[in-house]
Amino acid sequence: MVAALAAAMAAVFLWGCGAFQDIRPQAEEAADERIYIQDNGEMVIVGFSQIGSESIWRTANTNSIQRALTKERGYFLITDNARQKQENQIKAIRRYISQRVDYIVLSPITESGWDTVLEEAREAGIPVILADRCVDADASLYTTWVGTDSFQEGEKAGRWLEENLKEKNRLYEDINIVILQGTPGSSAERGRTEGFASVASRYGNWHILDCQSGDFTTAKGKEIMEQFLASYPDIDVVVSQNDDMTFGAMEAIAEAGLTMGVGGDIALISFDAVKEALELVRKGKINVDIECNPEQGEYIHRVIQKLEQGLAVEKAYEVEEMVFTYRNVTEYLDKRTY
Ligand code: AHR
Repeated sequence: MVAALAAAMAAVFLWGCGAFQDIRPQAEEAADERIYIQDNGEMVIVGFSQIGSESIWRTANTNSIQRALTKERGYFLITDNARQKQENQIKAIRRYISQRVDYIVLSPITESGWDTVLEEAREAGIPVILADRCVDADASLYTTWVGTDSFQEGEKAGRWLEENLKEKNRLYEDINIVILQGTPGSSAERGRTEGFASVASRYGNWHILDCQSGDFTTAKGKEIMEQFLASYPDIDVVVSQNDDMTFGAMEAIAEAGLTMGVGGDIALISFDAVKEALELVRKGKINVDIECNPEQGEYIHRVIQKLEQGLAVEKAYEVEEMVFTYRNVTEYLDKRTY
């Protein structure tokens, strides 16, 4: 294991040192080809700092990046799993800088605390591509961002509730809401909380009884939902900021002897739209699932292709996302791979 790691590191150093001789521009569409063909056969080294593996979504996101940045396309990809700790991500970035990788892909656990290490990457001349979540650092400290608009996701959740209550003629009734939040301080948590609040604030009769973090995990989601149920006897709506927490919340609700979903005691609004959750949407157990698209690898590949060709890239690339209810979910279910 240690020997294999040492060999990989040595390879990284060797590949990392040369300058590219010949850049052959390619059409963006030629995604299956190598990023470009070089006389000396050098590869493009990418250090990827992933947050962890807290959710089904996260694993799908890691897979998407690993599927896109392959050896066949000319990449040497080093992936680090930070196990939910920002300090591990910072260590990984420093390691990538000392290994002189060509690009750093960072999926930042929280928004704040990145300025120093991003400054170090800039001084080393290594472009940083942010993936999935955002940072609150100066935009000059990273090259581009490929991810999802969490505020818009939260807003979509609020608008769904608005429409649903309208359909039932309940828009002006008192509605009790609890929110299972994701990792505190992450752009996914902040965006979804603020986006939902932007709609909720228009209705004095929507009462947000409580917001607690379930850390984007099933176990914590269940634990927090149990506390909500013990504290609030009349919950109408659960806004759960990812599917994994929703699975935990569903267990807690069932154990409390209540029903959920379409026509149930408690309406469930979830985020991510992984296959397992979409099955539950189809069955009417989850009312709505706001998609957060983990398929970001191809976008990152295309960004690197452009940069390798010396072309300018945008400061932000948003992946496409949908909203699923029992009305539209069936046609998408078969195509879901994660
Ligand atoms: O940042 C995206 C969020 O992180 C997803 O909603 C969640 O499942 C993941 O862990």
